[in-house]
Amino acid sequence: MQEIIRQLDEKRAAARSGGGQHRIDRQHLRGKLTARERIELFLDANTFEEWDMFVEHRCTEFGMDQQKIPGDGVVTGYGTVCGRLVFVYSQDFTVFGGSLSAAHAEKICKIVDQAIKAGAPVVGLNDSGGARIQEGVEALAGYAEVFQRNVLASGVIPQISMIMGPCAGGAVYSPAITDFIFMVENTSYMFVTGPDVVKTVTHEEVTAEQLGGARTHTNRSGVADLAFDNDVEALLMTRRFLNFLPPSNREKAPFWPTSDPADRKEYSLDTLVPHDPNKSYDMKELILKVVDEHDFFELQPDYAANVIIGFGRIQGSTVGIVANQPMVQAGALDIASSRKAARFVRFCDAFNIPILTLVDVPGFLPGTAQEYGAIIKHGAKLIYAYAEATVPKVTVITRKAYGGAYDVMSSKHLRGDVNFAWPTAEIAVMGPKGAVEIIFRQDMNDPEKIKNRTEEYCTKFANPFAVGSRGFIDDVIMPHNTRTRICRSLAMLREKKLENPWRKHGNIPL
Ligand code: HXC
Repeated sequence: MQEIIRQLDEKRAAARSGGGQHRIDRQHLRGKLTARERIELFLDANTFEEWDMFVEHRCTEFGMDQQKIPGDGVVTGYGTVCGRLVFVYSQDFTVFGGSLSAAHAEKICKIVDQAIKAGAPVVGLNDSGGARIQEGVEALAGYAEVFQRNVLASGVIPQISMIMGPCAGGAVYSPAITDFIFMVENTSYMFVTGPDVVKTVTHEEVTAEQLGGARTHTNRSGVADLAFDNDVEALLMTRRFLNFLPPSNREKAPFWPTSDPADRKEYSLDTLVPHDPNKSYDMKELILKVVDEHDFFELQPDYAANVIIGFGRIQGSTVGIVANQPMVQAGALDIASSRKAARFVRFCDAFNIPILTLVDVPGFLPGTAQEYGAIIKHGAKLIYAYAEATVPKVTVITRKAYGGAYDVMSSKHLRGDVNFAWPTAEIAVMGPKGAVEIIFRQDMNDPEKIKNRTEEYCTKFANPFAVGSRGFIDDVIMPHNTRTRICRSLAMLREKKLENPWRKHGNIPL
C-alpha cells in the first residue's frame, strides 16, 4: 500500500512537472503560461477536478517507449467558472510540444463526451505542434475522433477554443468546428500549411504571424472571434464571456440581476439619426444605451464591421444582438458580414438566446467582387438563419431598410415577433435616387420634374407608415423609449413556443 502511494506521488509529481523545468522556463520566456497555470487562472480557485493524470502514450517507435510523461501532454477535467460547471482541456506544450497522440486524443474525447452528458460547456486551451509525428496514423485517427465529438456537441453545449500557441495542419479544424475562437496576440497562430510549405508551393514569403497570427484571423479571415494581449487577459475575458452563455441547449442563460430600470429613457437617442440620410452615426451608441448597464460583449469587432454582433442583457437575461453599422460601408450587407451574422444567429437559436436586431441597411453591396464571391449563397445564409430561428426575435428599424436586406434583417415575414420602427425609418425597395432614376427614366433630363418625383417617392416610402399600414411593423416608437419597448417585448416572449416541421436537418446554403 505504502509503495503504491509512493508511486502515486511520484507519478503525480512527474505529471505536474510536464516536460521539465527548462521547458517550463522556455514557455514563460515566450510570455506563455503553462497548461496548469492556465487552468488555475481560468477556473474558480480549488475547483479543478483532474482526470486521466496517469494516461500515457502507447507508441514504441523512435524510442518513444523510453519517453513517457504521465498525462501525455494534455491536462483535462472540470471545475467551475463563477460557480457554474465547465469542462476544460489544456494542452501542455512542454510535453512533446503538446502534440496529439492517440492517448492524448482519448483524454479530450472523454471530456467532451462527459460534457455532453452533463450539459456543460467545453473550453479547449490549444497549444500544440499538431499530430504526434512518431505515432503516424494513430494521431490522425485521434484528431478525427476529436472532430467527431466537436460535431456531435455542436448546438448541444457551447464549445470555446482558445488558441494559446501553435495550432497547425488539420489541428485547426477542431477549433473551426467549435462555436468561438479566441486567440492571444503574438504567441498564437493557426494555419493549415505553415510558411515553409507555402513558400515551396506558391513561392510566397510570409511569416507565421502574417499567415495565421491573431491579427490576421481577427481582421482578414474572420476565423477568430477575438484577440487578447496575453494569456491572463484571454482567460479572464473568457470567464466573463461564459457568463452570457447557457450551459447547454436544454437550459437558459444565467439570470444576471440588474438594478438598471426597464423604463430607463435615453433622450439622447432622439437625435442619434442625422437629418442627412447620407450621414452615418454609430450604431454601437444605441446598443450600449439599450442593454443592461451598458454592458455589451462584442465579437469580431475588427472583421466585417459593417455588421455588429455580440451579447448583452435585457432585464438580466442574455440577448444576442445583430446590428447594421452605418459607419462602415454605410451598413450595406456583403459576403463577410452575412456569414458573420448568420453564424451568430444560428448560435443564438441553438442555445435559446433571444435575438435583438437593429436595422439601418441600404441593401446588399453591389460589385463584381461580391457577385463572383457568391454573395447570393452567402447572403442566403443570413436569410436561412433568421428564417429557421424559433427564439424570440425583436427588431428595431432605425433608418434605412431597403430591398432584400429589409427582408433579411429579421423582418416580420421571417417570423420576427415584434418589429418596431423609429419615426426616421425608411422602408422601400431601394433609396429615392435609384428608384426615381429607374421608374422615371423619361424625366431624367428635367431636374425640376426629377425633384418633384423624388419628393413624391419620399412621401410615399421614406417613412414608417407604408409598412405600418400593412402591419409589417407593430408600432412606431420614440427612440428614447427603445429600451422600455424591448424590455416589454422580451418579457412578453419569455415563454414563446415555436417549432419547425420535423426533418433530419435542413440544407443551409454553405
Ligand atoms: C512530436 C513534436 C511535434 C509533433 C513539436 N514537437 N511538434 N513532437 N510531434 N508534431 C516537439 C519537438 O520535437 C520538441 O521536443 C518540442 O515539441 C518543442 O518543439 P520545438 O520545435 O523545439 O518548438 P518551437 O521551436 O517552438 O516550434 C514549435 C513548432 C514546431 C512550430 C510547433 O515544433 C513544429 O513545426 N512542429 C511540427 C508541426 C507539424 O508539422 N505538425 C504536424 C501538423 S499536421 P523537445 O524534446 O526538443 O522539447 C497535423 C495533422 C493533423 O497536425 C491532421 C488532422 C486531420
